[in-house]
Amino acid sequence: MNAWPKSSALLQENEKWIPGGVVSLNRKSEPNICFVKGKGSRVWDLEGNEYIDYQAGFAAAFLGHNDPDVNRAVEATLHADSLLMSAGPTNLEGIFAALFVKHVPTADSIQITTTGSEATYHAIRIARAVTGRDHVIVMQGGYNGWHNDVACNVISPLSEIGARVSPGEYPIDALSAGIPAGHQSLVHVVNYNDIESIRYVLKRYPVACLIMEPILQNVGILKPQEGYLQAVRKLADEEGFLLIFDEVKTGFRHALGGYQSIVGVQPDLSSFGKAVANGYPMGVIAGKKEYMDYFIHPEKKKRVLIAGTYNAHPLTTAAAIATVEKLADPKADVYGHVERLGATLEKGLFDIFSKKGRPFRIARQGSAYCVYFMDHVPVDFHDIANHHDFAFDKQYRERLISEGIFNFPTPIKQGSISFAHTEADIAETLEKTQKIVAAI
Ligand SMILES: Cc1ncc(COP(=O)(O)O)c(C=O)c1O
Repeated sequence: MNAWPKSSALLQENEKWIPGGVVSLNRKSEPNICFVKGKGSRVWDLEGNEYIDYQAGFAAAFLGHNDPDVNRAVEATLHADSLLMSAGPTNLEGIFAALFVKHVPTADSIQITTTGSEATYHAIRIARAVTGRDHVIVMQGGYNGWHNDVACNVISPLSEIGARVSPGEYPIDALSAGIPAGHQSLVHVVNYNDIESIRYVLKRYPVACLIMEPILQNVGILKPQEGYLQAVRKLADEEGFLLIFDEVKTGFRHALGGYQSIVGVQPDLSSFGKAVANGYPMGVIAGKKEYMDYFIHPEKKKRVLIAGTYNAHPLTTAAAIATVEKLADPKADVYGHVERLGATLEKGLFDIFSKKGRPFRIARQGSAYCVYFMDHVPVDFHDIANHHDFAFDKQYRERLISEGIFNFPTPIKQGSISFAHTEADIAETLEKTQKIVAAI
């Protein structure tokens, strides 16, 4: 029986005009539910079902769907007739940049794009311009966007990956066809939490940068082991490559200063996105002045081009300003609220799964969480791929959805609590989880 006939019909119709029926492959799932409305912590699908939402638009709607303060700022901008105008500089982008720099200690200045992928793209380009080197290191189990430098062999099936990937030695299986072979040979995939795998690449190639999510968030929540990020920082200083923290998913969600401000490790450059504008499309590149100035290099010999008709679009920028202001408001206590809810959810899930008698570990960082069905805390993607019970996870998620709790129906996708969630939402989630876990 198909419980989502209207969603299936719409998908089929869309597939006539859109390959696969989805405009971002990450949105392809089973079931593939079509949503029509989101408000606060809730979303509604085409069938009229209501869900408590823990997907939050792939972690973008950190304040909740259609946050009233953010939407009010967007509406005010819309009614001020300030859409794109003549596409010259605006006061909005200056206000946002000043706010950003005030709250993110490692940002001397920023540049603004429309997506997170553009932000990681530009950060890598700067690293190449600064160092004069071409090679890039990325993390297995990380995700940094869709472009040539990062769409390679990350989050891949185990059969397709080598622990230490080097051209000619192990196959590099690209996440995307169409990446020139020469380009693939510049990208090296290493293990998270494994400093030796970075050294292995450094011995062989002139590396411009290492780009990484400091805490991996596209395979659940994979935390850095003690001293690991510090060791990566030290290696970057010793070997002269730039350290780029991709905080597209973590930035503004764990702290205004990013996850980097929690672990106390300073990258040279960072990328932000998603929660920065509470789901309106924005990416940010931030970092040290000496590197950011390559965007307008005084001698113009090594200027890194930044361009984009829609960069700092007024609606998005108004949304971003309202978002930062709300996140920074001590009266709102956004981070305190989501931490309390996260702790309650974690404890409740712990009690439920303890009674089930099957191995599990709950990983959580503030509002982001994931239940791994394995008997130890995972250290890298191979560990998850080898030990996590994917079949159980899939069933767990499907049953949650049928009870009105939307966790993305793909195993190891993390859950996101938003500021709009309430204690009652968490209580209802736990009550329903208790019921379905007992029945699996
Ligand atoms: C860590 C990380 N970096 C980069 C990206 C790419 O951002 P966008 O989808 O806005 O291009 C994502 C998207 O999920 C992400 O999670």
